[in-house]
Amino acid sequence: MNSRASELFAGVEVLPSILSSDFAKLGEQVAEVMAAGARVIHVDVMDGHFVPPITIGPLIVSALADQVHDAGGVLDVHLMIEQPDRQVDNFTAAGADAVSFHVEATPHVNRVASQIREGGALAGLVINPGTPVDAMGAAVGEIDYALCMSVNPGWGGQPFIPASIDKLAAMRALLPDGVALEVDGGVDAVTAPKVAGAGANLLVAGSAVFGAADPAAAYAAIAAVASNG
Ligand code: DX5
Ligand code: ZN
Repeated sequence: MNSRASELFAGVEVLPSILSSDFAKLGEQVAEVMAAGARVIHVDVMDGHFVPPITIGPLIVSALADQVHDAGGVLDVHLMIEQPDRQVDNFTAAGADAVSFHVEATPHVNRVASQIREGGALAGLVINPGTPVDAMGAAVGEIDYALCMSVNPGWGGQPFIPASIDKLAAMRALLPDGVALEVDGGVDAVTAPKVAGAGANLLVAGSAVFGAADPAAAYAAIAAVASNG
């Protein structure tokens, strides 16, 4: 059990997604948002198959782990990959504190969730915009958080899909108490209060944070309205 991650996932957090950061100065960018209060850093892993782009692997998680942990934070790894069971252990060993995978990517949802927990991380289940809430099925009893994609996965900077608000409310109603609800895609200072109002407590923000001239100020502005739902 990862107690720091459990503690953070029980509250309202804005999760800067490093997908939109400047990778030439990744450590500095993470330090900036953490100095502004961010405690959960979101890492987008794409394999070129489940989604077209190829992005980040365990090496980057490992490179950031000490910095983030020493500052009291945790790493939330979002796997947009096929056959997640083949990669989960590499990410937990690299220092991931929470790992989410897509229900569309594996028929072995409960097994992958167990594998993540056995690696000492929180287990999250992700559903795409086109996937019905019911697809979470019986797995809702086996996970620590659910993630609602509010854009189609693969790229940062896409517009928020408005139907995600009702979907979040439906997910929240299905999830047992104590299971966190994350939302990912198109979250900014305008959409943050709406998703929080629908029941999301973990709000991923990529381009709205790292695409801004001042990422620390952008983070703070979203965090200030994130609990005003
Ligand atoms: C998209 C990723 C997101 C991405 C969000 O597939 O899962 O985490 O970084 O970016 P924004 O916040 O710009 O929509
Ligand atoms: Zn993501």
